[in-house]
Order: sequence, then structure tokens, then C-alpha cells
Amino acid sequence: MRLDYYLSHAQGLSRKDAKINIKKNKVQVNGVVVKKANHQVLESDQIMLGDIVIEWPSDRYYMMNKPADLVCANQDAEQTTVMTLLPEHLHKGLNIVGRLDKDTTGLLLLTTDGQWLHRITSPKHECSKTYLVHLDSVMSEQAVSELTQGVMLNGESVSTLPATVEVVTETCIRLTIKEGKYHQVKRMLAAVGNHVVSLHREGIGGVELDSELAVGEFRELTLEEIETLR
Ligand code: URA
Repeated sequence: MRLDYYLSHAQGLSRKDAKINIKKNKVQVNGVVVKKANHQVLESDQIMLGDIVIEWPSDRYYMMNKPADLVCANQDAEQTTVMTLLPEHLHKGLNIVGRLDKDTTGLLLLTTDGQWLHRITSPKHECSKTYLVHLDSVMSEQAVSELTQGVMLNGESVSTLPATVEVVTETCIRLTIKEGKYHQVKRMLAAVGNHVVSLHREGIGGVELDSELAVGEFRELTLEEIETLR
């Protein structure tokens, strides 16, 4: 990549300021002053601006305990987004991994790593998601059995993949699915004649919502959590 791109991306400089610094002989690549903005560099090169080493930023990974009433979008003209819970300097390059409905709470992942995001959200990889689902009506054995076998959602032509259902109370189940269709859980419960009152995501793949995170809080993922989902 070009040296001016490296500087602007890694240091948050405008391309113009990056070029000015290069012109002023302030930038070294592997110990040698480089005067050309289009000089090709690698992430592994040592780039210095003055006497400061400018590291190539590595990807960032967060989990959030999403509150209800916020929309999962990077920007929204009318509604408050989950991004408002993160300080602005973290927003750059950050994407939401598998959106939740506005009224859904719980585990939300955010990352700058596009491949990692794709691995979790692509239907091909069948990454599991676990939800605690509170319901309007009592769950019959028949409804549980239908969910575990797969149901036909309104407007779809193929039935859902078999799900795992743990009955928590008469009107509460823990549901694990390996897909992420639009409003999938609500539509699955509608397909068996019930209605979702509240929905809370507890886990994605091997990663569980940290019980220490208060509603609206976020934290970086640990290396182990990142690798679990890779
Ligand atoms: N399924 C839904 O219906 N809503 C969500 O927010 C997540 C899964």
C-alpha cells in the first residue's frame, strides 16, 4: 500500500496531512527517510512519524449488552442506534455482526474484521445463536416438537433448519437456531401459533453474553472468544 495511505489509516491523518509530513522528511520507513507519498509499504514495515512508531491498527472486536429501544444500524436519521453507546473514536470501520430487532435485547457483536463477520453471519457456516424467548401462550409439546424438526415460515419456500428447544417455564423457552433470517425467531413462534413477548440473545457460537456487562455496556472480546468464532 502507499505510504500516505498507511499514515492516514494508521494515524487518522488526512491524506493531505500525510503527504505534507512525508514532504517535510518527517517519515521513515525501516529507518530510512522516504520522500515519496506513493512509496509502497507493508503492514510489517516499521513506519515512523518523527520519533513515534506508527503501528498498523489491528482489527477490533466487541460485545455489547444491547438494550431495547435502540436500532442496530451504523446511522439512522430518526432513531437512536446502538452505535451511540460506543465512544465516537471507536466507530471507524466498525460493523454490527448479525442485527437484532429494536425490541430485542442481549448479545450483540461488533467488529472491524469483515471475514470474521462473514464467518458468523453467512448461512453456509450455520453458526448457532441462542435466545431466551418469553411467550404469550403456553408452549405445547407439539409446538416444541415442530420447532425442533423445522417449520415453514410465512413467505418462505423451505422450512427452517432443526432447532434446539429447552423448555424453561410454560411460557418461556431457550431456543438455539443456526440461521438468521429476518425476524426469524418471531416468525418461527408465529408458525407454531404462539407470539413472542420478549427476546433476549444469550449466545453466539461458543460466546456467551458476559453476565458482568450491564445493559448498554460493552467490552472487547478476549482472544479466546475471537478464536472460538473464527
Ligand atoms: N429473531 C427475531 O425475530 N428477532 C431478533 O432480533 C433476532 C432473531
